[in-house]
Formats: sequence, structure tokens, C-alpha cells
Amino acid sequence: MDISKHFSQSQLAHNSSKPLYLQILEIITCKITDRTLPPGSKLPPERELANLFAVSRTTAINAYRQLELQGLIQTRIGSGTYVVDTPINSTNAVPPMSWNQLFSPHPQSPLSSILRELVSTPVSQQSISLAAGMPDPALYPFDIFTDLFHKHSSKIDLADLGHISTEGYAPLRQTLATIHCQKSTIPTIIDNLLILSGSQQGIYLISKIFLQPGDCVIVESPTYIGAIQVFHSAGVRILTLPSNTSLPLALLEDYLIRYRPKLFYIIPTFQNPNGRVMPLNERQELLRLAARHQLIIVEDDPYSELYYNEPPPPSLKDMDHHNIVIHLGTFSKTLFPGLRTGWMVAPPPVINRIALEKQYVDLHSNNLSQWLLHLFLKGDVLQTHLIQMRKEYKKRRDTMANSIRRECGSFLDFSLPTGGFYLWCKLNTEVTSPTLLHEATKNGVSFVPGEAFYTDRSNFKELRLCFATHPEKKLQEGIKRLAKTLYSLNQKQEHQALENNSSTRPMI
Ligand SMILES: Cc1ncc(COP(=O)(O)O)c(C=O)c1O
Repeated sequence: MDISKHFSQSQLAHNSSKPLYLQILEIITCKITDRTLPPGSKLPPERELANLFAVSRTTAINAYRQLELQGLIQTRIGSGTYVVDTPINSTNAVPPMSWNQLFSPHPQSPLSSILRELVSTPVSQQSISLAAGMPDPALYPFDIFTDLFHKHSSKIDLADLGHISTEGYAPLRQTLATIHCQKSTIPTIIDNLLILSGSQQGIYLISKIFLQPGDCVIVESPTYIGAIQVFHSAGVRILTLPSNTSLPLALLEDYLIRYRPKLFYIIPTFQNPNGRVMPLNERQELLRLAARHQLIIVEDDPYSELYYNEPPPPSLKDMDHHNIVIHLGTFSKTLFPGLRTGWMVAPPPVINRIALEKQYVDLHSNNLSQWLLHLFLKGDVLQTHLIQMRKEYKKRRDTMANSIRRECGSFLDFSLPTGGFYLWCKLNTEVTSPTLLHEATKNGVSFVPGEAFYTDRSNFKELRLCFATHPEKKLQEGIKRLAKTLYSLNQKQEHQALENNSSTRPMI
């Protein structure tokens, strides 16, 4: 049988990066698997195959060699090359993996698309991102960490670099427990404290040990995107409490009675994104109400040390006489996020159960970070660093605020936060934040649109600007670009409105 006709339509891509022998291999494999070449078919001799595809004889030999290795063909000495009866050991002979069908079911967070868009929007080197909630890399106390490493690395107990307990490096846990005790009348001992790979991991582990699909949780609205995503992925029902003004305790109580939620995730101090600080009396009332209804309070507290006027009120954990608060802390904002070190303070039964769950995820957090952080905290340099950061970030906050007032006029409203990283702005124009982001990115500046912080994506008039990541000059330039975008979009909209008005015709 002349089978050369089966290859007459097959073209090789000579300018492809894929070698020619592999292209021939794929063509023949396809013909074998779709039975165009049934078992027993005799294949052309190497020289003929080379002529058919206009390639060298070596290329043809290589293609046959690979096919033979894959068990698809067989050379019989003195007879020729044949398709084998039952193709074995062939990765090409089996259908491709259908990964999407094999994933376990997972509720898709509606925020994923916003974040994907934000991440996938092409940004140039010169672009200024006011989006990420990151400290400025130029302010990382890296030289102190380098010195500590050099001074102490010869004295390190190498056993500390092996596997350690899931709860974390004991000296660091003890130091953090002591720091908590210094701020509170409620004692914190090492058994109350577990080291996390960032506070985000804490939110995830809390959701794993307490929540199942159908449960209810309460969050503030707006709130931290990372928490919303975790709760979405847990398949729970999310109830929201407005967080721009004082906490609506009556609505909270209504939720508690009506839905019996498992937990309330809250950022009481320098809230992300709106910067709000919950006053002391509200904290007391919240704790009273929560205790009465057996509601777990998850207090996420990354920003409380970054205050620019008075220190904020004590944390909920520091007032937790009923043992209902799970507190999350992190070094991501005060030092640097790459340390991936946060911690949880909670009653021992919670710590034990979290440790069990954490074991499934990463056995324990990074030892080197924990060892260095312990040295850093012991050396008492944290306070000096924090004093510098408060001074620097306060300047940056004021620079950004003044630039907005100067450049954006009445288009952007905000109230000055007394700590944290963000200005939470309201758009006073027809322009929406997604449209503004789309155009602003082209003009070399980006931010997070407000809708990302809501569970129902209902808000298109707010945006979050981070003032911590860049020095003052860059912040001023970023706001200039934002203002330019805002004015040009506004003008466009006014034009459009005029045109629409003038082109109105009676309907007949
Ligand atoms: C409120 C809040 N919680 C948690 C995190 C995550 O912090 P970490 O880097 O410790 O995981 C962030 C970071 O932006 C945050 O703003």
C-alpha cells in the first residue's frame, strides 16, 4: 500500500523553533492514533520519508528513532518499518489531560477578574503604581538584618534550621508574647501565640478550621480584598456592615439573631481601605455584644503601629476579657512583606487546632526569617525603625493629600487618615473608577478601584491610593498623571452629554 499520500498534505514549519524531526514525529503520531495508519501499516523507508518531507536523512532517522522509543513503530531488519499492533508507552497516544475538569469544585471569587485585569494591564517601567499596599523597598531595614546575620550566623544552633514546631520558633513566639503583655493587662503566654507565613495565611487557616459552605460570616464594607477572597472560596455567605461611619451595632445584633454568623472579620485600626479607627467605646460595645452571642472576632491588625498623630486605642485583643478575639499581626507593613512572617494570638485550643491545619499547608513558617526577626526584636531596633517610618509616612501622606487638593480640585474627596498606608478617595464626577483606572494606566499611574473592596462590586465611585510605596516626588508626579486623566475624561463626558442633548429627536 502506498501510504506516501497520507503525508502529501503535511507541511513542516521550517521557521518554527520546534525541530523538524519532532514535527514529523507529531504528524506520524497523529496518523497512527487516528488510525489513518492502522497497526501493521508499512512506513516509507528513511530515504523516502526524507524526500517526502524534503528533509535530510538524519532528520528522518531521528523521527523514526523517537517513534520507536515511544513504542509506536517497530523496525524489522530486512523487512522495513511498521506501525505496531498495540501502541504502548506512548504519551502521544493518550488524550491530553483535561485539567479544568479535574479540579475540585471551587466557588469563583467575583473579585478575581478585577485583580486579574489590574495585574494584566500592561505597565511600563516609568509607570507609578499607587495600587499595591507595600512599604517602600528603600525603607526596608535590610542593612540591620544583614548586620544581624553576619554577627550571629556563626553562633546559630544549626538544629534551628531543621524542622521546628508548627507553632513557630519558640524564642520569637516568646518575644512576641512579651511585647503583647507590655501593651495589655491581659496576659499573653507562648501557648497563645503561633507564627504564620503572613497574616493572609492566618485568615485562610481560620476559615479552614471554623467555616463550611453555607455558614455566615460578617465583614466590614468595604474591607480587605484578601479576606473577601478567602471567604468566597470557603463558600460561605458574607454579611456586610458599612465601615465608613460608626459601626452599626443594631444591624450587627440583627445579623447575630437572624443568621447566627460564625465570625466577624474586622480591621479596627487604620482600616484597609478606608483608614478608619474604631473608637474605644465602640470597641467595648462590640466585645460585649460578641461575647453575649458567642461570636468569634477576627481582628486583623497590620497597621496599628503606623500612626501619625496619637497612638490608636488598644487592640480588641488587648481588651478581650471573654477570650473571643483571634488577633492577627504581621511584619509585612512595618518591616518588609518578603519576610512572610505574621502571628496569631488566640486561646490555646484555637492555636492547637490552627497548628494542626497549618501542618497540612507548610509544616511551619520559614526558620531563617523567624531567627532573624527574633534577633531584630531582641536588639530593640524595632522602636527606632517605627519612629522613622511614622515620620516618613506622615510626610508622604501629607504630600499626597496636598497634591490631590491642588491637582484634582473638587473631583476627588477624601478624609485624612491618621495612620496606615491609604487615602480612600471618592469621585465627585460622572467618571467611574474602572474607567479612570483604564485611562490612568495609559498615562502611567495605577490604583485599586473601590469595587474591589466590596463583596457585591456595587461601588464605582471610590478608589484607594497608597502613599507609602514611593518618595514624595514620585507621589506628586503620580497624582499629576491621575489629575490629567481625570480632567480629560471629565471633559470627554461633558462633550458627550452636550452632544446627546443636542441630538435628541422627537420619537415618531
Ligand atoms: C488588612 C490586611 N490583612 C492582611 C494582609 C496580608 O498581610 P501579610 O503580608 O502579612 O500576609 C494585608 C496586606 O495588604 C492587609 O492589608
